[in-house]
Amino acid sequence: MTTSFPEGFFWGVASAAHQVEGNNTNSDLWLLEHVPGTIFAEPSGDALDHYHRYAEDIALIASLGFDTYRFSLEWARIEPAPGEYSVAELDHYRRMLEQCHAHGLRPVVTFHHFSSPRWLLAAGGWEDPETPARFARYCAVAMEHLGDLIDMACTLNEPNLPYLLAELGITGEPPEARAEIPVWANAAAELGIDPARIAPFQFNATPTGFAIKVAAHRAATEAIKSVRPDLPVGWTLANTDVQAAPGGEAYAERVRAAVNVRFLEISRDDDFVGIQNYGRHVFGADGLLGAEPGMPVNSQGEEIYPAGLAAAVREAWDVAAVPVVVTENGLATDDDAQRVGFLEGALEGLAEAIRDGVDVRGYIAWTAFDNYEWIFGYAPKFGLIAVDRTTQRRTPKPSAHWLGEVARSNGAGI
Ligand code: NOJ
Repeated sequence: MTTSFPEGFFWGVASAAHQVEGNNTNSDLWLLEHVPGTIFAEPSGDALDHYHRYAEDIALIASLGFDTYRFSLEWARIEPAPGEYSVAELDHYRRMLEQCHAHGLRPVVTFHHFSSPRWLLAAGGWEDPETPARFARYCAVAMEHLGDLIDMACTLNEPNLPYLLAELGITGEPPEARAEIPVWANAAAELGIDPARIAPFQFNATPTGFAIKVAAHRAATEAIKSVRPDLPVGWTLANTDVQAAPGGEAYAERVRAAVNVRFLEISRDDDFVGIQNYGRHVFGADGLLGAEPGMPVNSQGEEIYPAGLAAAVREAWDVAAVPVVVTENGLATDDDAQRVGFLEGALEGLAEAIRDGVDVRGYIAWTAFDNYEWIFGYAPKFGLIAVDRTTQRRTPKPSAHWLGEVARSNGAGI
């Protein structure tokens, strides 16, 4: 059997606590989902009840053929009030990690995946100068309790997303405009703070926010390494393939620099960089261009472009020059055959990049289960496994079996 994927290459699926656990009531997002004027299509509610069903979920993921499970710890559960830690919640995540090991899955753990404790939002969130130290303190406590069972650590998930969303015209308003926007104004009123100080992780795109996230990443890396110096640590980036239509070169270059390159430059000091790609964005002289008419689109109306993954991975290797891990890649579609075609195309490009010498260590698909897609609610279906949210019954789709076989054979046939 010939394969382009090196020996030891790992194959996994990912999730994020807030998207699957359910009843994350102490988080900032729970608050934002429920305030009048919310930008969330529906509240997260019980989600997939992964909090209680993790044991069977992990067993199912392993049975499909995967060897890696990426999931996140929920800071709001572990530190429900500043400086107060819940041993019961830490024990919960310890049981999840033990279950991964019992089923031969290597745990890749994300310490922050968009949601934060509600108290952090009240304290100025991701624009407050104390937040890097707060985040590092929580990471240190989590590591003391869980570190021996973790295989790879991701500090922050998609710190660059708000800068991409701002380019796409979604959120990213300056602080002084937040008082005019109902969701931020109402959340601020609920918390008793000035709306200009509302700074959730993924919805603000200020220069201060960039500096705070870099400092948080650095402080967290140090905290994690102080417990386990040998543990690979990095962050995971939302790197789209930025392309220019004729005349759009300068515009595209500016976006590429602001969204991808300056975050990849930070990764030069890390053990690896996580790359999360969902396609491309093409810019003309005046900004973003839509999908070309007649091109296939996903369930959110965006162009389906599997080649974006290889481009993002090559760019990461060029700029950061550290090992690359694909920490997310997937497609929102109700047509599972289309998902298989997308994954196959993305993996073909990835295999080619590896043959060209790019150091890629693993591929983690987004996502294990159909889940809570943030402001879009439960409508977009990224999952390899369907979930009936009334009965919570899980049903693997053909794509789960297909990718599981690819995993088992280390990519033979790709
Ligand atoms: C990236 C995020 O990390 C994840 O939470 C989200 O669901 C996927 N992209 C799909 O949009």
